[in-house]
Amino acid sequence: MPENIRITEVGLRDGLQNQAVAVPVEGKLALLGGLVEAGVRHVELTSFVRPDAVPQLADAAQLVDAAARDGLVARLDDCMALVPNMKGYERAHAVGVRSVALVLAVSETLNVRNIKMTLEQATGICETVTRRAADDGVRVRVYLAAAMGCPFDGPSPPARVHALAARMFDAGADAIAVADTIGAGHPQDVPALFEPLVNAHGAERIAAHFHDTRGLGSALAWQAALAGVRQFDASIGGLGGCPFAPGASGNVATEDLAFLFEQAGFATGIDVDRLLDVLDTVETLLGARHQGRVAPWLANQRRKRRASAPPINALSS
Ligand code: COA
Ligand code: ZN
Repeated sequence: MPENIRITEVGLRDGLQNQAVAVPVEGKLALLGGLVEAGVRHVELTSFVRPDAVPQLADAAQLVDAAARDGLVARLDDCMALVPNMKGYERAHAVGVRSVALVLAVSETLNVRNIKMTLEQATGICETVTRRAADDGVRVRVYLAAAMGCPFDGPSPPARVHALAARMFDAGADAIAVADTIGAGHPQDVPALFEPLVNAHGAERIAAHFHDTRGLGSALAWQAALAGVRQFDASIGGLGGCPFAPGASGNVATEDLAFLFEQAGFATGIDVDRLLDVLDTVETLLGARHQGRVAPWLANQRRKRRASAPPINALSS
């Protein structure tokens, strides 16, 4: 039996929050539908932040409603929404969200820029929201952002990440996602950051979130897999970036990660070839070319396969 790797698709949130074009609910549903058809079962759907801060995601409640109405939520194992504070949590809870992502930047300055709080204040808010969600039976994944480096404060000490992770688990978090928000990490820094977390808390409670800013996203993910990590975030077409973290570019692309791990004999549940169709949807919605690396090769393989397939009337004879 191949070992499983779980890929959480974050393109609808991390990806779309930074686009010049605001994609309407129908477009987001088309994207989600395509991802589900390709075998994606874990999604970060949207975020319940201030609508004026991130207008691209101002339709969070309508999207959650519509995705449930269309039967898409029922086909997912995890449909997560980001909440930045208690107000966001209440909004998400009110529309039936059962899984939330909280963000705690591990550097002082990024917290101030992102949510206007000190690290200690932000940690306190995260603990409060985590406890409340745990009481409600809502799943909590805490993102430790800028865990490999902050655009303002420089490299982040792994010991601080480990201490914050322990605090969040104590507050009742179900999982921690270690996020290299701006793509500042180097693969050689991965073992010291991830191995202690996997050893202390178990691979089922640790996820990795890498950006491909410097072309190292897949290398970081591979190194994390060697360190025992089995859960990864990725975004279709490498969409992404954070409007509040200058220098951040897209997430590592879903098609690149799924390809990397499938080729290595892991099971992701994702049909990589079908992601090509989702990439077409992304390009139609955003009018822009995607950033992933493997798609041209996949498209070429698909062309070859189709060219060598017998003609339709040969099949029926
Ligand atoms: N959803 C909707 N409205 C919210 C809200 C939320 N999650 N949090 C606060 N508000 C509203 C308050 O109700 C208040 O409204 P009012 O003036 O009409 O009474 C107003 O915003 C100010 O509230 P305050 O508590 O001072 O929040 P803030 O202005 O400091 O905003 C954030 C803090 C985090 C909610 C806001 O900066 C934000 O949403 N930023 C986006 C963060 C993000 O998406 N980052 C990228 C992902 S990591
Ligand atoms: Zn990110």
